[in-house]
Amino acid sequence: MSSENSSAPLVRPLQAEDTDLLYSVFCGLSEWSRKKYRPHDFTYETASKFTGEGLSEKGCRRFIALLREDGALQAAGFCFLYNMESETPSLGIAVSDRYQRRGVGAAMMGHMIQTARAAGKKGLRLTTDKDNIAGQALYQNYGFVITGEGKEDDYLMALDF
Ligand SMILES: CC(C)(COP(=O)(O)OP(=O)(O)OC[C@H]1O[C@@H](n2cnc3c(N)ncnc32)[C@H](O)[C@@H]1OP(=O)(O)O)[C@@H](O)C(=O)NCCC(=O)NCCS
Repeated sequence: MSSENSSAPLVRPLQAEDTDLLYSVFCGLSEWSRKKYRPHDFTYETASKFTGEGLSEKGCRRFIALLREDGALQAAGFCFLYNMESETPSLGIAVSDRYQRRGVGAAMMGHMIQTARAAGKKGLRLTTDKDNIAGQALYQNYGFVITGEGKEDDYLMALDF
């Protein structure tokens, strides 16, 4: 994990006071990014839910990524692990468009993999649209392989530890 003086992204668990930061990530997602990241809507209510009751949601752990820009920490991305009761939880990830290609996605992937390993999990699973080249490239960098096809023109991908 980086220090606040570093320009490297800082990834940490979502906290109760993060509603506005999380909502700013939602607001920074383009239509394309919203379509590729499907799990939920992008309303302030959803951000409030995740930083409220969502903090104790069974089987789900959410994280936020912060990046230092112009001397201040900006919210750049969001990710989560779910089905944490399973041996192979699944993940979701999104980076605000203006912060993409700056290592934020990679930092969040590293953090989620480390979290899953520390929890004794056997691997991770995800689905990604077939046309999501950026997502597939990111996942393949971490050793994910395509294991099948889903029902929505998407691939199933898996990483086994
Ligand atoms: C996929 C996503 C999370 C990547 O986040 P990011 O912060 O831009 O990624 P990084 O800068 O950390 O890049 C890590 C690697 O991802 C891959 N990558 C990222 N963007 C890419 C692009 N536009 N084209 C091709 N590869 C890309 C590259 O392999 C890159 O490594 P490199 O920089 O050494 O080439 C981001 O594009 C995003 O949020 N997209 C919209 C939502 C989404 O698709 N979520 C995933 C749903 S399955």
